[in-house]
Amino acid sequence: MKKLLFVFGTRPEAIKMCPLVNEFGRREGFDVRVCVTGQHEELLRDAMGAFGVAPDYDLGIMRPEQTLENITARVLDGMGDVFASYRPDLVFVHGDTTTSFSSALYCFYHRVPVAHVEAGLRTHDIFSPFPEEYNRRAIGLSAEYHFAPTENARDNLLAEGVPEARVWVTGNTVVDALKATVSDGYKSRITERVGGGRLILLTAHRRENHGEPLQRMLSAARRVAEEHGDVTLVYPVHLNPAVSIAAHELLGGLKNVILSEPLGVYDFHNLLSRAYFVMTDSGGVQEEASALGVPALVMREKTERPEGIAAGTLRLVGTEEEGIVSACRELLSDAGAREKMARAESPFGDGRACARIADIICEKAREGSF
Ligand code: UD1
Ligand code: UDP
Repeated sequence: MKKLLFVFGTRPEAIKMCPLVNEFGRREGFDVRVCVTGQHEELLRDAMGAFGVAPDYDLGIMRPEQTLENITARVLDGMGDVFASYRPDLVFVHGDTTTSFSSALYCFYHRVPVAHVEAGLRTHDIFSPFPEEYNRRAIGLSAEYHFAPTENARDNLLAEGVPEARVWVTGNTVVDALKATVSDGYKSRITERVGGGRLILLTAHRRENHGEPLQRMLSAARRVAEEHGDVTLVYPVHLNPAVSIAAHELLGGLKNVILSEPLGVYDFHNLLSRAYFVMTDSGGVQEEASALGVPALVMREKTERPEGIAAGTLRLVGTEEEGIVSACRELLSDAGAREKMARAESPFGDGRACARIADIICEKAREGSF
């Protein structure tokens, strides 16, 4: 019996890892355990609950206004007890969070092999997104198995000298997650309030955008809502106070803006699937919107998902107010422009990423590679 440990700590990791945990739960020959660092609390609990996954270990590290060094130190510190009691043969980490970076570093120190899910995303600017670009490159140094969601991500890894035999293109597991959440008959208080009108979904939370860029993004959203009284703009606000204070200051009190608590993933995916378009600085929302055929205006200077831009499902609009407003105006006034983005083919996978990853690991286990 091979012992697998899945380590994650934030909402996006949970959404992208739980379908994989469940896939391994259906396979023979593995003991599967989940360690959450608790980098997030409420957001993490909700996302795991939606997929019926419960943690076996919880490091409970979250603090208000936690710094990157707090998270790193607490994860490294907390991991010792977990490894002492479980001794995994292989550890799965995801993407680019500080939870993933610190766990991969712990594994490196203890010579435990790491499987990196969503490997190879790069902006090629170490400060953008911050600190995620650093984290994913560093995780790549520790990883033995690199599961790249796209050919482009694979090429990034090969260009950095990762041997071809250790990289597999699998698609992104978030597309697998959508299969479990999106349903035709979905209704909620928000869909009822939107009625037959157009819904714009907004998410914004990135560390490198806190302060002025976030204020410009939210001012742009305010102008769009004021100019188009017929649309409803829905913003589920991140729990980080650096985000929620600005959100309420700049978007509070408008009759066609709904500022909500973070939505459960089931609600979020279903609302996204019904959106006219989404404005976002999130990573995962870019892939989800593409997969659902919903145009995404990416409020960042750079994206590590350039295949979405090339395919035409995503448009990079920067963080300046005028650029964001004019992109929104175009989609709202030109149905053809919106349709073109909505019809573009998603490059992020076919919803079978988890099965591919599990097949590869089963084969490696049979070969005795770990
Ligand atoms: C982290 C990830 C980022 C990811 C984001 C998803 C890193 C470096 N960044 O962002 O890649 O996009 O999570 O949301 O790992 N909070 C709560 N309850 C929660 C979650 C957060 O109150 O359930 C508040 C806390 O005050 C916490 C703050 O949000 O201190 C920030 O959380 P943190 O995980 O540090 O956020 P980011 O680093 O911005
Ligand atoms: N999400 C959610 N509820 C919300 C907003 C987002 O469940 O109110 C989900 C969304 O579907 C996506 C993930 O959270 O899968 C994205 O997380 P986030 O934007 O926090 O992080 P990122 O992807 O930028 O790392």
